[in-house]
Order: sequence, then C-alpha cells, then structure tokens
Amino acid sequence: MNNLSVDHLTGIKDLTRADIELIFKTADSFKEVINRPIKKVPSLRDITIANIFFENSTRTRLSFELAEKRLSADTVNFSAASSSVKKGETLIDTVNNILAMKVDMVVMRHPNPGAALFLSQKVKARVINAGDGTHEHPTQALLDAFSIRERLGSVEGKKVVIVGDILHSRVALSNIYCLKKLGAEVMVCGPTTLIPKYIGDLGVKVSHNLREALDWCDVANMLRIQLERQDIKYFPSLREYTMLFGLNKEILDGLSKEIIIMHPGPINRGVEISSDVADSCQSIILDQVENGVAVRMAVIYLLASKIER
Ligand code: CP
Repeated sequence: MNNLSVDHLTGIKDLTRADIELIFKTADSFKEVINRPIKKVPSLRDITIANIFFENSTRTRLSFELAEKRLSADTVNFSAASSSVKKGETLIDTVNNILAMKVDMVVMRHPNPGAALFLSQKVKARVINAGDGTHEHPTQALLDAFSIRERLGSVEGKKVVIVGDILHSRVALSNIYCLKKLGAEVMVCGPTTLIPKYIGDLGVKVSHNLREALDWCDVANMLRIQLERQDIKYFPSLREYTMLFGLNKEILDGLSKEIIIMHPGPINRGVEISSDVADSCQSIILDQVENGVAVRMAVIYLLASKIER
C-alpha cells in the first residue's frame, strides 16, 4: 500500500494499522534525509502549508515548520494571539481567508475538541490536527510509537504505561489508539479523579499504583498535569501528586528491569518526573523530538500526494 486511507489526519482513531505502518516506513526514509549534511528534499516545492495555532506550542509548531521546510514546501505561520481572531473573526472565516491565498494544507492546533474534523469538512485544503483540546494529538502518538519501535525493534507485544493526567490528555487518547492498533498492551496510571470512567472501553488496564505499573511495563510515558485545563481541584496538592505518581531515580533504580522513559513535553521537572530521570540514558525524550520531524514529514508528504495538482 502506497496511499493513506484518509484525506486528512484529524485523529489516530481513523487510521488503519496499514496507514500507521506506511507512515513509519516513509518516516524511516525521511529520518535518513534529515541526518544528511543537506537535510532537504525538493518533493513539495509546489505546495503551500499554513500552520495555524490557536494554542501555545513549542515542539509541535517548530517540528511541523521544520518538516515542511525539509520537504521544500512554502509555509505561512498564523498565531491567534496576534490575529484578527481577537477582533471576533470566526474559525471558518479565518481559514477561508488564508486559503484564498492559495494554501494547500492546514496544520491546526485549537482548544476545542473536534475543531480539526470540523475544518476538514468545511474547506478544500488537507487538514492535519496538531492537537484539538483534550481530544487527539495524532502526530505526537505517531512519533511516540515510532520512537518505541526504533528503541525496542517493534511495538507489537510491548507493555506501555501512560502515567498522569489521562482525563485532560489528548496525547493519552491518541497514544492508546495508536499503540492498541499496533498490538501493544496499554495501561493507564494516575489518581482515580484523573482517569476517565470510559477508559476500560478502550481496552486498557488501569492502575492507581505507580510502582505496580512500572513493574509491569517495558515503557513508561510520563504526562504532565494540565492545570490550564482543570477548572476544579482533582487532587489535594502538587506535592502529594509527586509523592504518589512522580517518577524519580530511586524508584527507577529499584525496578527489576530497565524500562524506557518517555515524555511528550513540556516537562514539569520535579513534579511528574525528576531531572535525573528525564536526563538519564533510559530516557528517550529528545529522540521523540528528533523523530517528530521525520514522522511529520511523512504525514505531510503522504497527504500532499492526495492534492490535485
Ligand atoms: N508535545 C507537545 O505537543 O508539545 P508543545 O505543546 O510544545 O507543542
């Protein structure tokens, strides 16, 4: 198969296992490209991509922009904070104005779940979801699974625990869909208040005990507490959260096997993960960031092949 089954990437839920494997195979080639002295290919010289961000971002925004430049696409960047959205312009009007300037693809981060799907139904351009509220963050899940595959040889059969604020995390939901489609076993771990009640329906195990979860897993993906999305208190204090669910070197060294540590960023050092764990040789946090560029190049390249030229 050389083609994705979807015309847009709005969520991992819509992808088949074959789609994910095609993205990984394509990303393997692009990873080789970005490690060459000249890190660029001319593939998308005729394509223009708009990166429109209604929420803050460091990694995703820079990674998409670099991926687009490495593919020789033209790019425009839009930040809601400094735009006419502040004057009351709607999402559709904003995007249609950008598209009137002959843009072929839109990469969008938005605080509302479903925003990317909504956009993909309203505009002609290909749409990539760069995070829609608490819903999905598909390219993060793809780069996470790609990084596990790179480190452990495959994702099939591996045991992955996602620790932290599962309730507010788009990374958790996209990771669960992606890992399950690739044949991994998945567990979520955190305080009862931060684990959604429907989670069992997704076929994942649940633990409220960090040590038990770490003893079980091959890979631990540590998530930050999303205080900006919490309108009520879900646990007594950050100090108590860290005591029960924070990963430190003493816990890591006390395990009977060496596990892989991941984090999508941004890290709150000393809360969900200590600095010596984040910077340890078991951590693949910066590999995730590096792989993000190759994986996003693959997604953009494969979706661009569906644009009528
Ligand atoms: N992982 C991630 O989405 O990071 P940013 O919010 O910095 O893009």
